Amino acid sequence: MSHSHDTIRAVEWRDSALRLLDQRLLPQRQEFLKLETAEAVAAAIRDMVVRGAPAIGVAAAYGVVLAARSAWRRGPADWRQEMEQELGKLGAARPTAVNLRWALERMRKVAHRVEGDPGEVLLHEAKRIHAEDIDANRRMGELGAALIEEPCSVLTHCNTGSLATGGFGTALGVIRAAYAAGRIGRVYAGETRPWLQGARLTAWELVQDRIPVTLLADGAAAWLMGKGKIGWVIVGADRIAANGDVANKIGTYSTAVSARHHGVKFMVVAPTSTIDPSTPDGASIPIEHRPEREVLELGGEPVAARGAAAWNPSFDVTPAALIDAIVTEKGVVLNPAMRGVEELIAEG
Ligand code: MRU
Repeated sequence: MSHSHDTIRAVEWRDSALRLLDQRLLPQRQEFLKLETAEAVAAAIRDMVVRGAPAIGVAAAYGVVLAARSAWRRGPADWRQEMEQELGKLGAARPTAVNLRWALERMRKVAHRVEGDPGEVLLHEAKRIHAEDIDANRRMGELGAALIEEPCSVLTHCNTGSLATGGFGTALGVIRAAYAAGRIGRVYAGETRPWLQGARLTAWELVQDRIPVTLLADGAAAWLMGKGKIGWVIVGADRIAANGDVANKIGTYSTAVSARHHGVKFMVVAPTSTIDPSTPDGASIPIEHRPEREVLELGGEPVAARGAAAWNPSFDVTPAALIDAIVTEKGVVLNPAMRGVEELIAEG
């Protein structure tokens, strides 16, 4: 498969530090931040310098490297205890994206068995997590693109691309692969209020990689589907419960309801690191609520009537019954409401 529609990388390890493309400034400015402490990485995750479940996991893994490095420098005798405090801050940065917890657990296991200076061993593991994420995305790209039988236009929500992952993307990876294979003509992207991941990030990625994109206000999605313009809705996930319910960016649920109403297929694309076997169903997924000002303001400028309150859940849950396919790097589950995602977890 051609990777020509894939030029962006937002997370990099360079010169013994983590380099993050500051996603708060896109698309107006492309600036990288250099982070040298785990605390700075936790703040970058919390403040959305880096966002998107898999990218948060990759950034956190590098954060563990920074935590262990400074803990070792301060005192080789009790470096693990010191490191744990920093891991607590990383883990608390955002609650819904389970890839964060998954990456910290994986790094913690390696940290617990390492002897001597942990720096190199942990860096090796973080780089593996990063590289495996890109490989998983490419595999999901192939599997998801194969589900699109007739050339069509697709609708996506939020940003699930290179910016949201180690690189290539989940839902946007499927879109990249399917576009390269001639199965997608145009991508419709919901602007994704309030943080505008669709307008600012997805549109930017697709324009960079020369894939035709049309933006719409989130409220226009149902009408677009009603006009028969969409073959598939393709989205990512922040956490998939054992029964196949999916937490993803606020607005995903209403898009799924509209898709079912109009007979449009609905695909969720996520690596198995997004599956949380300890969460039985969607009702048990913790949903992050973000500051009211994200809704009351636009680009830092007030737009709402002064005195109004705002409700700002960052994610919603789409029940498995509204999902036609969950695509992971380990395979595809069709109609997840029938059997959940247990089989993918069982394979480990
Ligand atoms: O708040 P964000 O921007 O981190 O939310 C991101 C999403 O909801 C994505 O759809 C999800 O993390 C999948 S990214 C491959």
